[in-house]
Amino acid sequence: MIEIAPSILSADFTRLGEQIEAAERGGATIIHVDVMDGHFVPNITLGLPVVRSLARATRLPLDTHLMISEPGRYAEQFAEAGARMVSVHIEVDPHIHRTLASIRKRGAKAGVVINPATSLSALDEVLNYVDYVLVMSVNPGFGGQEFIPTSVEKIRRLSRTIRERGLDVRVEVDGGIGPENIAQVAAAGAEIFVAGTAVFGQPDPAAATRELLNAAAQLV
Ligand code: DX5
Ligand code: ZN
Repeated sequence: MIEIAPSILSADFTRLGEQIEAAERGGATIIHVDVMDGHFVPNITLGLPVVRSLARATRLPLDTHLMISEPGRYAEQFAEAGARMVSVHIEVDPHIHRTLASIRKRGAKAGVVINPATSLSALDEVLNYVDYVLVMSVNPGFGGQEFIPTSVEKIRRLSRTIRERGLDVRVEVDGGIGPENIAQVAAAGAEIFVAGTAVFGQPDPAAATRELLNAAAQLV
């Protein structure tokens, strides 16, 4: 099932509640929350207090994408704060098996994230322990970047591996997604589409979300 996960990184932070409602009206079923620490990535965004408030403000599941060093110290706290999905970059966690288990223990879905330059082979030993894989189609840190075209083939190969191994793991994609490329990425096997600029960078986030859903349905 195709789902749009608008990223609040591109939203107006003075009226987050309203913006999320607009995205929901347009058919968004997940809200993507980018947590950046200014260390793993060259940008700082938000943390636990904002996640706690958002969890009270919306019924939609919050998908927290942790772009932080030492995610093992914090992942569980994000689940406790109300995030129903928590994802951790494999590049920064030498004990990711433990971190993923700590997320699931709190009742949230556990995800692993890979950067554009991280090989799919890095996932071999973790695929059995995740609910979803988040494939970065830009280098993490900022919204509004251009989609890296080789991500399509990477997603296709990952989806094939998941199928061949008979796993119940969903593929999410993040970065540079818009109406012009979403169908192609969906055809490669991605199911959850993060979109910042393409939703909250638009004058009407509800209409923009609807447009993405329609474009994704034009499966090639
Ligand atoms: C980038 C973030 C993304 C970002 C996507 O580091 O992980 O979630 O908000 O923004 P767009 O859709 O504008 O590329
Ligand atoms: Zn993200």
